[in-house]
Amino acid sequence: MTEQTFSIIKPDATRRNLTGSVNAMLEGAGLRIVAQKRIHMSQAQAESFYGVHKERPFFGSLVAFMTSGPVVVQVLEGENAVLKNREVMGATNPEQADEGTIRKAFAESIEANSVHGSDSPENAAIEIAYFFSGTEIVG
Ligand code: CMP
Repeated sequence: MTEQTFSIIKPDATRRNLTGSVNAMLEGAGLRIVAQKRIHMSQAQAESFYGVHKERPFFGSLVAFMTSGPVVVQVLEGENAVLKNREVMGATNPEQADEGTIRKAFAESIEANSVHGSDSPENAAIEIAYFFSGTEIVG
């Protein structure tokens, strides 16, 4: 079934000019980029987006990192897009990421791990609506 997921190319990747390289891997995995914009997240946006992690010890550092430079927010579409994107991203910790994944290729650390992807279709819908209006998504 065709599905959408939400993706972020994080500040460590935009800083190293890797937007195109990440997008090539996403497209190579069979995902279509149906919406995309480069933004600089505010502190409030990052705190709200990562609200589920607010009790975690890394929360403050994560918010500082995500607001440290530009990010590219995206909507990806394809068959089983949520799972497909998680597969091409690789494990959260790049030391555990498989060969051929984005995080294995590019991530600097468990925090500066180059990309974010939704973990379920339900969260994808919430995360997409947080950054995009319907008219910005062009399939
Ligand atoms: P992401 O998939 O965007 O979801 C939460 C983010 O928190 C994660 O990627 C990392 O960038 C960051 N993070 C930092 N430390 C940890 C940790 N110990 N476990 C999980 N996520 C972490």
